[in-house]
Amino acid sequence: MTGVLVTGGTGKTGSALVELLRGNGVPVRVASRHPSAGDPDAVRFDWADPATHPAALRGVDRVFLVPPVNTVDPMPLVGPFLAEAQRLGVRRVVLLGSAVVLPNAPSALELAARVRARPGWVVLRASGFMQNFLSPHPVGERIRRCGEIRTAAGGGRVGWIDARDIAAAASALLADPGGEPGDRRDHLLTGPKAMSLQEVAAIITTHTGRPVRVVAIGTDEQAANFRAAGMSAEFAAAIAAVEDGIRAGREDQVSTAVLDLTGRPPRTFAEFVQEHATQWAGKGVPEH
Ligand SMILES: NC(=O)c1ccc[n+]([C@@H]2O[C@H](COP(=O)([O-])OP(=O)(O)OC[C@H]3O[C@@H](n4cnc5c(N)ncnc54)[C@H](OP(=O)(O)O)[C@@H]3O)[C@@H](O)[C@H]2O)c1
Repeated sequence: MTGVLVTGGTGKTGSALVELLRGNGVPVRVASRHPSAGDPDAVRFDWADPATHPAALRGVDRVFLVPPVNTVDPMPLVGPFLAEAQRLGVRRVVLLGSAVVLPNAPSALELAARVRARPGWVVLRASGFMQNFLSPHPVGERIRRCGEIRTAAGGGRVGWIDARDIAAAASALLADPGGEPGDRRDHLLTGPKAMSLQEVAAIITTHTGRPVRVVAIGTDEQAANFRAAGMSAEFAAAIAAVEDGIRAGREDQVSTAVLDLTGRPPRTFAEFVQEHATQWAGKGVPEH
């Protein structure tokens, strides 16, 4: 078959990409650790079980690559997968990478460099997801339960993007097997505007009526919050430390890549909030 293997195919970005590709008549293979029995395109795929990789890759010519989540060291699992993809003649890999450079995580940079080095393979460096403000993400979960965002990021801005716009950009790069991805092997993907968490909270409050306050905390406390949400100590520390960079203005950037790739501007945060307004409905007393 020619078609697209969508890793992370049941996740926020992957599931939106599957829908877009199917809408364009592109054959897909939906990778999951728990493939849906009712989906003939579903294939079992587990990063932690390399025996599942060749079968998922065999016969496809394009791959949407969502690397293993919640780890600072993806290469031991993704490196052999990419070697197999190359061996089987996969023409295009589109990597869901991150605009943020995690501290002490050279493996993620190595992965992006490996993809970028191959003609026709492309890296998407995605900014922070708008979906982080929805449950089950720990930030969204705290808003829902307590009406607050606890952060070490100060008033630093991020170009928050809707995961569906990342999917749209990926679809533009993956839908046409013969299409050229252009000269660029690396796209910074952001929403239309960089915003602080204070602005984010105000927009949620305006469109939902739910008061959301921003509480300043240190990175150690933030790391403890992420550990309590189930992340490994190493990953929680790295993600919390990213907030230092946000505070220093390092993520205050926007690009035109979504518009350039898809012909449509990315969704605004206000549009995103209006679409999901009911999900912030819970009442709660802030915890201390
Ligand atoms: N959140 C952000 O702000 C942000 C910003 C930039 C980049 N990113 C990147 O976005 C990626 C996450 O994308 P997302 O939010 O669309 O995904 P998601 O909604 O968090 O879903 C995770 C996906 O990964 C799959 N998965 C989990 N463990 C797996 C394993 N061991 N083997 C194979 N598949 C596994 C899950 O599939 P099953 O459960 O069905 O197996 C699911 O489809 C991460 O790599 C993250 O670094 C996130």
